[in-house]
Amino acid sequence: TDFETILLERKGRVGIITLNRPKALNALNSQLMREVVSAVEELDADREIGAILLTGSERAFAAGADIKEMAPKTFSEVYAEDFFSDWDRLSSARTPIIAAVSGYALGGGCELAMLCDFIIASDTAKFGQPEIKLGVIPGIGGSQRLTRAVGKAKAMDMCLTGRNMDAEEAERAGLVSRVVPAAELLEVALDAATTIASMSLPAAIMAKEAVNRSFETTLAEGVRFERRVFHSTFATADQKEGMAAFVEKRAPEFKHG
Ligand code: HXC
Repeated sequence: TDFETILLERKGRVGIITLNRPKALNALNSQLMREVVSAVEELDADREIGAILLTGSERAFAAGADIKEMAPKTFSEVYAEDFFSDWDRLSSARTPIIAAVSGYALGGGCELAMLCDFIIASDTAKFGQPEIKLGVIPGIGGSQRLTRAVGKAKAMDMCLTGRNMDAEEAERAGLVSRVVPAAELLEVALDAATTIASMSLPAAIMAKEAVNRSFETTLAEGVRFERRVFHSTFATADQKEGMAAFVEKRAPEFKHG
């Protein structure tokens, strides 16, 4: 597939999507949205891919929705086209997706990072929901996912004042899983993605599904769901291989089935 606003490459079992609109700090226009969604769906359908890495440039993961494209839109247009709803398609991807964030992850950029399964940040990363400064509010899930990630106090603070969080605060608050020096970001994130992709693919999909279930249901239902899915891992060849390898003191060779 030919993409113009992103780069797509495969390294072993990892698919790497790089946002590539440097002149606009990777602002998310509709073409970029279509291309990211299409690339993720292509990688998600590929059984040879076990993890997806989504990243931007050193200066910006993404500085938000494209304000110049968005500015002239009318209420009837955004309502009728359900503006931004296509981004929801990322949450149906079953393959684990890591966001590697350096520089600005603002507005839609922060929301896109939060649509991924977890975020690894460089020490230069800045997260924020500055929409209020433009007279609007988050529109790609920011008010919901940020609140679940960091709690009400910080989510309200960020959405109401529009201030940024630096990487250290984001890690303390639980928005990102790790902070690494900027120069090591891609290496560390690719290493994490490669590790995930080396695991049993069914187990990785099940683990992601189980963690995500915790956001949608009660604790008792979630625990029951987890236990049933855990039981179903015993139907996979990878469970037999993983446990046999441990007993035989060797590395497992998962067949992803
Ligand atoms: C369109 C953008 C952009 C954006 C940056 N650019 N962010 N274009 N949409 N979100 C463009 C600039 O216009 C400029 O192009 C070029 O990228 C470089 O940006 P500068 O501002 O010159 O860089 P700098 O001075 O370093 O400042 C970086 C920045 C600033 C602090 C990130 O660009 C900024 O505040 N951007 C907007 C951040 C924001 O408000 N994001 C939320 C968007 S709303 P030119 O051609 O002028 O040189 C959003 C909404 C979601 O995401 C849902 C709402 C309904």
